Amino acid sequence: MSQSESPATSSVIFEVAPAERLAGEVRVPGDKSMSHRSIMFGAIADGVTEVTGFLEGEDSLHTLEAFRAMGVRIERGGAGEVTLHGRGPEALEAPGEAIYLGNSGTGMRLLTGLLAGCRVAATLTGDASLTGRPMRRIVEPLAAMGAQVATRENGTPPLVITGGVELAGTEYSCPIASAQVKSCLLLAGLGAGGRTTVHEPGVTRDHTERMLRGFGVEVETHALTASLEGGQRLSATRVEVPGDISSAAFFLVGAAMVPGSRLTLTGVGVNPSRTGVIEILRLMGASIAVENPREAGGEPVADLVVEGRELVGIEVPEGLVSLAIDEFPALFVAACAARGTTVVTGAEELRVKETDRIAVMVDGLRALGADVEGTPDGAIVRGGARLAGGTADSRGDHRPAMAFAMASLIADAPITVLDCANVDTSFPGFAAIAGAAGLRVDVRRSP
Ligand code: S3P
Repeated sequence: MSQSESPATSSVIFEVAPAERLAGEVRVPGDKSMSHRSIMFGAIADGVTEVTGFLEGEDSLHTLEAFRAMGVRIERGGAGEVTLHGRGPEALEAPGEAIYLGNSGTGMRLLTGLLAGCRVAATLTGDASLTGRPMRRIVEPLAAMGAQVATRENGTPPLVITGGVELAGTEYSCPIASAQVKSCLLLAGLGAGGRTTVHEPGVTRDHTERMLRGFGVEVETHALTASLEGGQRLSATRVEVPGDISSAAFFLVGAAMVPGSRLTLTGVGVNPSRTGVIEILRLMGASIAVENPREAGGEPVADLVVEGRELVGIEVPEGLVSLAIDEFPALFVAACAARGTTVVTGAEELRVKETDRIAVMVDGLRALGADVEGTPDGAIVRGGARLAGGTADSRGDHRPAMAFAMASLIADAPITVLDCANVDTSFPGFAAIAGAAGLRVDVRRSP
């Protein structure tokens, strides 16, 4: 298959029977954000980088294949083991054809900054969702650094990066809280002359800053500012990727909202820029204990023990939104279970994720019998009643698909979830892992 073509996707449907509770122990796959970064940084480092816990999901595998297409030797060992033979940024070769990044906004936005900084010519494309997503948020600040990156007229991919262009460091105040924009500019800044500084309006995940330090790069961070000096080289290292809290979130919600549940999630990354879901669920009355805290590869890791309780609706503090940005599909389900009204505001970024997640969740939950309405920047959920069950369309978005499956814990009849193939982008094996914890998911494929 040419890398510029979309792979043929079969339609995948989840048939989920009503379930009573979640119990036992679950280990979720590796963190998607860190898996992308481990490949990108190992590929441009000097020496051999060993990664463990790598997420073998479609998104991060597209990033891995992208660097193979640029001449980097990358070996896959046992589950989650990847070895990268980095020869520095100058060894990257312009890929022969367009790089296909599937569904992955992180892959596209970070790679664009990195390749512009490495002066590599490339065309980056993706599936129907990715080629509809906004890229001016990176292209404009990159242009201010001297980069030449073309988009379609409406600012969407494919992105065409002109090679051989020298970049200059920049100081940029980002209007949106986005780790992807921050990371894109820092990676471009690595190859630029002088210093690159990014100011953010709110806290976003800091995996780029932490992992770059693990590769020996000096990154200065202070409150909402991150900066680095261009021209620094990366030295190969070992990267241990913890479990993805964004995947754990479905189980946190599933267990937290059903009295009688008790679930342990082992080895989950609990970087404070990602733990908004725990804080929001606790505000709703959830019992979540953070046990056995430890550190792996510069990132905090812990086991999470959840016990089911009756939840209550809340006004979600806007300061927590960017710390839980990927967890709202699951949190909307928790809000359906919670007694009273939950109000989410300040979350307009949800409208430009893999889908418009406000629309997809509102439509899907309503179809299941929930009392929920969308607002321009969030939703209002009147919860506390059981759901009737029925059919919810994930519209090809992995996180709504898994959230609707979890809704079977508060439903009186089966739930059919449409268009679930992309669950494999972030959580391969979801149905089996959820099944072991007590969910009853039957996966049906049709050509
Ligand atoms: C990510 C950042 C977030 C998040 C995405 C992964 C990352 O996007 O939604 O799933 O790895 O940097 P934004 O930073 O654009 O909000």
